[in-house]
Amino acid sequence: MSFNVVVLASGTGSLFEALIQSQQDYEVVALITDNPDAGAIAIADTFGIQVEICDLDSFSTRTDWNSALRALIAEYQPDLVVSAGFMKVIGEQVVNEFNEKLINIHPSLLPNFPGAHAVEDALNAGVTRTGTTVHFVDAGVDSGPIIAQREVEISQNDSIESLHERIKTVERELIVEVVKSFAREATQ
Ligand code: GRF
Repeated sequence: MSFNVVVLASGTGSLFEALIQSQQDYEVVALITDNPDAGAIAIADTFGIQVEICDLDSFSTRTDWNSALRALIAEYQPDLVVSAGFMKVIGEQVVNEFNEKLINIHPSLLPNFPGAHAVEDALNAGVTRTGTTVHFVDAGVDSGPIIAQREVEISQNDSIESLHERIKTVERELIVEVVKSFAREATQ
C-alpha cells in the first residue's frame, strides 16, 4: 500500500527535492504551486512528478482560488499534504477538508516569529537560537498544533541568507523524518 504525499511549494523547492529523494515509505505524487516560475517545477520535471499550477492571479476571488486548490489536492487522494515553502495563506475550506492531513514547515520555533519573515524577525529580535517547526495547518497563520521542532543556533555574523540556509539544512532532514513517521504509522 502506498502512502501518497502531495507537496505545496512556491519557490526554490529544496525541501520538496529532499522529500523526493528520500521516498521509501511514501510516494510524492504531485507538486502544487501558486507560482508559475517556481524553481520547484523544474525539480518535479526532473523526477517525473506531476505539476499543478494554481495561480491566484488567474482567479477573480480568493474563494475561487481556494476552491480550485482544494479540488486539485483532492484529485490525488493524498494521505498527507505537505506545505513546504508555500507562500500563500491556505483558506478555511481547504484546511477543513484536509485538516489532520495538512502540515506545514516554518523556519522558526513557533509560536515565536510566525509569518513570512520569520528568519529576519528572529535576527532582528537578537535571540541566540531559532529553528524550525512542523505543525498542522489551521485557519490561522503558522498557528496549528506543533508536531516537531529543531533548534538552530544563531551566530553573531549571520545574515538572513546564511541563517536561513542553515535552518533549511535542518528542515530538509526534519520534514523527511516527519513524513516517514506519518507514513509508517498509517501503514502499520
Ligand atoms: C523553508 O524555510 C520553509 O520552512 C519555508 O520556506 C522555505 C522553503 O525552502 N516555509 P525551499 O523553497 O524548499 O528551498
